[in-house]
Amino acid sequence: MRLNKLCLSRYCVLALVTVVIVTWTISFRSSEETSSSTAAAGSMTDQTLDYFLNKGALKDHNAADVQWYHAANSKDKITEALQDSSQMIEADVLLRGRDPREPIMAHPPDNDSDITLRDWLAMVVNSEKGIKLDFKSLEAVGESMALLDKVRDQLKGPVWINADILPGPGGMATPLDAQAFLQTVAMKAEGDVLSLGWTTGWSPNTDNPGYSWEMVQQMEAVCKNLTQPVTFPVRAALLPQSFVQFQWLLQQSDRYTLTIWTGQSDVLNVENLLHYRQNFSKSRIYYDLLENQMTKFKSLPGYTMSQ
Ligand SMILES: *[C@@H]1O[C@H](CO)[C@@H](O)[C@H](O)[C@H]1NC(C)=O
Ligand SMILES: *[C@@H]1O[C@H](CO)[C@@H](O)[C@H](O)[C@H]1NC(C)=O
Ligand SMILES: *[C@@H]1O[C@H](CO)[C@@H](O)[C@H](O)[C@H]1NC(C)=O
Repeated sequence: MRLNKLCLSRYCVLALVTVVIVTWTISFRSSEETSSSTAAAGSMTDQTLDYFLNKGALKDHNAADVQWYHAANSKDKITEALQDSSQMIEADVLLRGRDPREPIMAHPPDNDSDITLRDWLAMVVNSEKGIKLDFKSLEAVGESMALLDKVRDQLKGPVWINADILPGPGGMATPLDAQAFLQTVAMKAEGDVLSLGWTTGWSPNTDNPGYSWEMVQQMEAVCKNLTQPVTFPVRAALLPQSFVQFQWLLQQSDRYTLTIWTGQSDVLNVENLLHYRQNFSKSRIYYDLLENQMTKFKSLPGYTMSQ
């Protein structure tokens, strides 16, 4: 009898604890969803996932399900990109190395292309996909933003404007001047997502340093007065050693997200990205990784334990 009572009360306590945990989890999750969909007056959170959700291209606010097409820098590539299963098309813009010096789709060291930005945009306006324009130099930015302005009413999908504007871990390239870039872009890109990154480097068989406190604080100082949503492109292989820095950075604003990318030859263990997947809302981290890496990542037992 005594034993039964003891067991019964243990079950009661267990049931109570379960109810409390479940209630807490549910309210915690719904409060996080509310807070990430509200924003300070005049500033905007990222509408990219809402756009694709409304199109039926995504099932929920899971940024890991957004698919990317890379370097759509030729007529053939952009034609293919417009027809495949990707939602976002990424391409590089620079000024042609010969006359006429106009914005073209090319990645350095190339300095010419079979397609100009003007013609590229003319193809994209017929589609419902989003675009991410990657600027490797300041000189192409002004004219490109003017071209973008002309087709803005016809573009249906999200527009992301990308540049590396600060020196980052192992970065050897010179970043674009942050103030000059933002002055040229911010006024013209009111509804766009700004994708603002650090220059980086990665070497095999050595301890590569991660993103330092100074680097994320510098970025926050540059971004805090912007009204646009900002995504920070971050290099996957340097992320395990930078968790607390990006935890802090994402806490600074609802407008901030991460876009995790990888160098083609970086050695990457996708299990090391689970911390990010599990500790932040799944609406706040985009994954621009190789197809086999994404497949492996999504098959990890911990992948679905996301917020
Ligand atoms: C453009 O690239 C070609 C081929 O690499 C090179 O010969 C040429 O000098 C470059 N032009 C400019 C202006 O950099
Ligand atoms: C951001 O705005 C605050 C208040 O208006 C101002 O003091 C500060 O200098 C601005 N920062 C930047 C980087 O423009
Ligand atoms: C992140 O989440 C995982 C699993 O939920 C947990 O084990 C880990 O301690 C968390 N890390 C931090 C730094 O919060």
